[in-house]
Amino acid sequence: MKLNVLVLLLSVLFITSCGNSDKKSNDKAGSADSEKKVFDNPLDDKGIGPVTSLVLPAEIDEALAAKGKEIYKAKCSACHKETERFIGPAPVGIFERRSPEWIMNMILNPEVMVKENEAAKKLLAEYVAPMANQNLTEEEARAVLEYFRTIK
Ligand code: HEC
Repeated sequence: MKLNVLVLLLSVLFITSCGNSDKKSNDKAGSADSEKKVFDNPLDDKGIGPVTSLVLPAEIDEALAAKGKEIYKAKCSACHKETERFIGPAPVGIFERRSPEWIMNMILNPEVMVKENEAAKKLLAEYVAPMANQNLTEEEARAVLEYFRTIK
């Protein structure tokens, strides 16, 4: 009888621990590549979030950039200045250090990025304050990204 209880307990433990690890891997779905990975070329790092592939056309879409500038002024400029370090980093030159996908995911999914993406973790350590999720839609984030392309 005692042995039965022990076996039952052990199997419950086993099942729970399996359940947990399943849940963990589900939570991180799509992040396996990026997690704990340090990229030789930071431009290969697409970050973690909804945007997995984004190729920017050569031409800047000025109308989209103008829309992005408005969104940036309203929702980002409290912490970011175009060409100067502020609460957060300056977006000037960002395409030299980040892929478009990484930038989009940082805007759309910062909580997970600063926890699980090595480059974002470093930023958080450097700036101390965490990047805020401003609840932009993917289209809005894309417009801000276009605006970033115009900053020189
Ligand atoms: C409450 C302050 C705050 C607001 C508001 C904010 N950010 Fe940030 N952001 C930060 C901080 C701090 C960092 C760097 C540290 C970190 O990532 O945790 C950062 C990092 C970033 C990065 C990565 C920069 C790099 O050089 O790699 C991007 C991109 C970014 N923010 C875009 C935005 C956009 C776009 C908005 C508006 C929708 C925005 N942020 C709003 C504080 C903020």
